[in-house]
Amino acid sequence: DWTPAHFIESTVAAIREKVGDGHAICALSGGVDSSVAAVLVQRAIGDRLTCIFVNNGVLRLNEFEKVQQTMRDKLGLNLVAVDASSRFLQRLSGVTDPEGKRKIIGNEFISVFDDEARRIFESNNDEVAWLVQGTLYPDVIESSSVKGPSQTIKSHHNVGGLPENMKLKLIEPLRDLFKDEVRRIGRDLQMPEDILQRQPFPGPGLAVRILGEVTPERVALLQEADDIVVSEIKSAGLYQQIWQSFAVLLPVKSVGVMGDQRTYAYTCAIRAVHSEDGMTADWVPLPYEVLKRISSRIVNEIHGINRVVYDITSKPPGTIEWE
Ligand code: XMP
Repeated sequence: DWTPAHFIESTVAAIREKVGDGHAICALSGGVDSSVAAVLVQRAIGDRLTCIFVNNGVLRLNEFEKVQQTMRDKLGLNLVAVDASSRFLQRLSGVTDPEGKRKIIGNEFISVFDDEARRIFESNNDEVAWLVQGTLYPDVIESSSVKGPSQTIKSHHNVGGLPENMKLKLIEPLRDLFKDEVRRIGRDLQMPEDILQRQPFPGPGLAVRILGEVTPERVALLQEADDIVVSEIKSAGLYQQIWQSFAVLLPVKSVGVMGDQRTYAYTCAIRAVHSEDGMTADWVPLPYEVLKRISSRIVNEIHGINRVVYDITSKPPGTIEWE
């Protein structure tokens, strides 16, 4: 009979047995899968698990600080937080192709992660470097297109620069589970609801929601807009019923008026979709009142955006992200 408590007990015991007195690393994304996987492994081997969280410069508003706070202070994880934002943003400068952006972010991530992994493992005389991943059953059968940073590492196959005598092995405690089971386990582990209920957020982050070139100025604008969208959707009590809701920054400027000033500024698109697994999606008819508040807050509070439009495209033929 499957219960979260049974699962936790047997999984923690199995990890403890497998890892022995070895060490493990885990890339955290701030989302539910990697966090639950990390907490399970921490229960088994304590601080011999090191979690790595990277600021890639395209996270949401204050996310780098917030995730650290939750992971370190609330969950007690042994966490290394690396602020590599300027390095990522430099590499992204001048790049407009969506897949080009993904490639740069993926490669930079691996390189930052490798550096940290090497530092962690170099000092130990272990034979195995354990890598924790929050792979779910749908990822295993590859029916899901939701890819997190763990996927990036998986396709990388190995952590570069490990001591020569070390082998890399995977720990994937969530391999047999669906998302709702992972949430139930997280709840049983007393993890904060805001992690467990978090909407999916793509590994390349805001970079695929800023059409065209990603610049620090545009990232700052989209962070503000995204924060308004998410907080208004939450205030309206809709956040948990929606698969994803977010803002997209378009590199299109149009004329507006503010007081007696003419403005010429960017356009922001609002996107909200219902979905089961990200493979198909329906646009959500958000209440006009919510749209009205989002729109008026964005144009009034953000200097640099003077027009808000609503995306009413389902998937297919549209995709959820704009890039
Ligand atoms: P699309 O835009 O393809 O998105 O309809 C389907 C789901 O996948 C997420 N997504 C990504 N996640 N890296 C990720 O980690 C990516 O490059 C990526 N592209 C899309 C998207 O947010 C949605 O949940």
